[in-house]
Amino acid sequence: MIQTASGAGFGKTFSGLQGIKSIEDFDLKGNRVFIRLDLNVPMSGEAGALVITDETRIRAALPTLRYALEKGAKVVIASHLGRPESDEDRSKFTLEPVALRLGELLNCEVILVEEPNSDAPKALLAGLKPNQLLLLENVRFDKGETKNAAELANTIASYTDIYINDAFGASHRAHSTIDALPRLIAKRGCGFLIKKEVEALGGLLAGPAKPFVAIMGGSKVSDKIKIIEKMIEGIDTFLIGGAMAYTFIAAKGLGVGKSRVEKDRLAFAKELIERIEARGKKILLPVDHVVADDFLAPSKIEIVLGDSIPEGKVGLDIGPKTRAMYREEILRAKTVFWNGPMGVFERQEFANGSFAVAEALAGLTEKGGVSIVGGGDSAAAAEASGFAAKMTHISTGGGASLEYLEGAKLPGLEALRTVRESAAPSL
Ligand code: 3PG
Repeated sequence: MIQTASGAGFGKTFSGLQGIKSIEDFDLKGNRVFIRLDLNVPMSGEAGALVITDETRIRAALPTLRYALEKGAKVVIASHLGRPESDEDRSKFTLEPVALRLGELLNCEVILVEEPNSDAPKALLAGLKPNQLLLLENVRFDKGETKNAAELANTIASYTDIYINDAFGASHRAHSTIDALPRLIAKRGCGFLIKKEVEALGGLLAGPAKPFVAIMGGSKVSDKIKIIEKMIEGIDTFLIGGAMAYTFIAAKGLGVGKSRVEKDRLAFAKELIERIEARGKKILLPVDHVVADDFLAPSKIEIVLGDSIPEGKVGLDIGPKTRAMYREEILRAKTVFWNGPMGVFERQEFANGSFAVAEALAGLTEKGGVSIVGGGDSAAAAEASGFAAKMTHISTGGGASLEYLEGAKLPGLEALRTVRESAAPSL
């Protein structure tokens, strides 16, 4: 059983991995081990010629897979990919490219099983050789997956001896292979990735070293409301960037030009600034901006000094003064959590803000501080900056990491908790 601290984070208790077994607690040899992963990786190209553009999630799954194979398990992997809606989406959302890449990385034969909800996997498992493993085709091709259906779970349970969840990024979903299925299997636990994620994020919840700085960016204040509210007590300084900064600037009554503003969040943003400041904490907004005359086809890109943005201009990144100011705050901190890019980093002209934050985080880690990156876009920005390897932890979960930090119980973790050694709770 994994021993990790439980405690009170951001004013709320949480239970971490308590009551959850680890893959290391089971004798895997000769057993059929079902491993739920989050192999939902971005791809480009047309159906039939899809190319994986970021394989971080595949690589993050390797320690658990290698361990299971080394211990002599008969491994069955499952994952979702994207959000397929109909059978026509099958060629676009197939796990075929993932099967190929996994085979290369593990140096073994990955057999893609078209029909997880059938007897086929059972038969294949019976004859599985040591250098082979099964990958079930995208579990979301079965309508039962997202409905947390008992039928799909029952079929998979009929060919599973040990259930391992290592899909941290999907553990906030109460889906059949994440929630219903493990509840049917007495021998269930988590893999190494979930352990690493929960320990890193749990460190933020349990009592991070101070000063604790949160860098919040991305496009929408509304996506971040819960996490910001949750963090108010624990955080010393908030650094705001990305499009959400313009809603805060507008809330202060300043000009934002044509920048994106969530009008229905202005009152909330204003109140939040007041609440943070009333507690003697800091919330810093950009003091200069990289702006353009148009978002889609900018003919003129310039830096504007001052916190407001002139008429007719759209803000697309934080400016150089802001970068320097945020860098100073980051390097003064002991713990930093970063969620959401500072600008439209996918375009080189607007990437400097996010890259400067990534560089400062790398500097913080080098001098012994803790840098945690949560969320798909900021993780991608960290990766693109070239500093990703220097972060203390980059979460593979976007929504999952935020929900975990908000104090929500993740269905994928709750389903793994074993109340008694041998009894599995009924569905
Ligand atoms: C993610 O990419 O955040 C996870 O794989 C979950 O995907 P979903 O948001 O489609 O459930």
